[in-house]
Amino acid sequence: MCGIVGYVGARPAVPVLVEGLHRLEYRGYDSAGVAVPRRGRIAVTKVAGRVRDLRDRLDLPGAATTGIGHTRWATHGEPNDRNAHPHLDASGRVAVVHNGIIENAEQLRARLSADGVALASDTDTEALAHLIAASLGDGPLEDAVRTALRHVEGTYGLVVLDRIRPDELVVARNGSPIVLGVGEGEMFVASDVAALVHHTQRVVFLDDGEVATVKAGEYRTSTLDATTTTRTPTTVDLESGSYGLDGHPDFMRKEMAEQPEAVRRALRGRLDTRFATAHLGGLDLDPVALRSVRRVKFLGCGSAYYAGQIGAGLVESLARVPADAEPASEFRYRNPVVDPDTLYVAVSQSGETLDTLAAVQELRRKGGRVMGAVNVVGSAIARECGSGVFLHAGPEISVASTKAVTTMGVSFAMLALLLGRVRDLSAAAGARVVAGLQALPERIEAALALDDEIAGIASRYASARHMFFLGRVSGWPVAREGAQKLKEVSYVHAEAYQAAELKHGPIALIDKDMPSVVIVPDDDIVVKNVSTMEQIRARGGPVIAVTTVDLPAGVADEVVRVPRGEAVLDPLVLGIPLQLLAYHTAAALGRDIDKPRNLAKSVTVE
Ligand code: AGP
Repeated sequence: MCGIVGYVGARPAVPVLVEGLHRLEYRGYDSAGVAVPRRGRIAVTKVAGRVRDLRDRLDLPGAATTGIGHTRWATHGEPNDRNAHPHLDASGRVAVVHNGIIENAEQLRARLSADGVALASDTDTEALAHLIAASLGDGPLEDAVRTALRHVEGTYGLVVLDRIRPDELVVARNGSPIVLGVGEGEMFVASDVAALVHHTQRVVFLDDGEVATVKAGEYRTSTLDATTTTRTPTTVDLESGSYGLDGHPDFMRKEMAEQPEAVRRALRGRLDTRFATAHLGGLDLDPVALRSVRRVKFLGCGSAYYAGQIGAGLVESLARVPADAEPASEFRYRNPVVDPDTLYVAVSQSGETLDTLAAVQELRRKGGRVMGAVNVVGSAIARECGSGVFLHAGPEISVASTKAVTTMGVSFAMLALLLGRVRDLSAAAGARVVAGLQALPERIEAALALDDEIAGIASRYASARHMFFLGRVSGWPVAREGAQKLKEVSYVHAEAYQAAELKHGPIALIDKDMPSVVIVPDDDIVVKNVSTMEQIRARGGPVIAVTTVDLPAGVADEVVRVPRGEAVLDPLVLGIPLQLLAYHTAAALGRDIDKPRNLAKSVTVE
């Protein structure tokens, strides 16, 4: 959450910062600000609202060639100009931008107030600025930052600018990512490579507990206790274009369209047609270890949790190993019984979600066996897990996750296949799954081709204030994810329910103004889903069926028919029309699709 950008070099800094903030805006869009040295002072411009509002206030390009910037998702203090970053100390000597949460902020702020410091904001970050300024001596700025951070509990990725040293920045990381971009005679700092890959692909990811001093032509890294570390740049193998819209109106649309290719990437080199199984090199489990797994538990938040629920269904049906999914946010706080025979799978697009990271840490502390299913290479969860599968979905910018969720499902299908083939899944059944996975990109393409049809449905139902999403067994997590997508981007209230549970209460809500989206996979209970639709229609409720099978005529008001294929993989395909439904409903209602209200891409707070 929140985005950080910093620059030291020869170019005017402000345009570089503003452009970087634009690219990071998906991480938080409550307020934005920049700070640059100007005539022996630090000039701060910050504003509640979007980066475009900030740009309107700035005198571009400006003379400064060093600066820091921030785009915020509010935690401490409401999203107003005062609470926007950067924050200055009382003398105006240092400016700080910060991601993360300072847990002892209240104590620090109380102590500062007692010492006579007039606090100018409600934020935890401001305390850092005062602490750093108070720690400044004759030594380097990074010494003051280290001294200040000794008083701090919590997570941070931060960048500090000192008006006395306008040609350098000091950065520090603990729990919130910081990456340095190494250019020719210039250096970039960001919380996310998205802000800097179009300037340089040579990057240094800081580790937790590291501090760096960054100047135009050099950087120096060390630990919080001042031990020097050696960090050589690595090259990110991402084209800067993958972070652009490439002609699409928004990132959600672009990322939905990228799904066939993302699935091909996720499958590449991982399917074994000879033994009808999967190779998941990063898993680090030999056949004996795979056979020793007696249960699989998926942990994630939001859509990653629903994808985990799809994964649990796949593991149970292909491997006949008991499996379930649980929100990581619940797991971490309920003192979980950690079973040594269970394989825990931490699921996360960003690899930064705090609740999921904390669940992994709790598991590791208790000796649990945990693997990651993560999209962002080098992210905190990927590193904490040590082993697992990367999703290879490519950068996902839209707050509403689409291609990452689909590649999560694909990865879990491969995991289930692997677990099944060391047990009782026959070679013939395994071969059907392999073929089904190979055919998946084409099925997804066919589902995406239903775009116009779904746009029509969305326009007919966009005025609904509430919608049910109903599914049974493998259709149930698909329904949950469909409801989540609709809520996120369109703000239409959507409630997901197990179809059979409807008649135990919620059917009372059915009337002509309550449409139900019913997910009907190609399984043994199609007839049950048909009867659910009949019950809804008998009470005047409109029904939108999303299915891979031929349904009896007249059973639904709208039928979205996705091509048939390997039935066990239906949950991976049936999610696509639901993404389109959410997208087109949001578009019909004029929503800001990539930046839904109150949300941000990675949730690095509790
Ligand atoms: C997805 O559309 C949501 N924005 C959200 O539920 C997301 O899936 C969740 O916050 C988990 O994020 P992660 O995959 O990066 O851990």
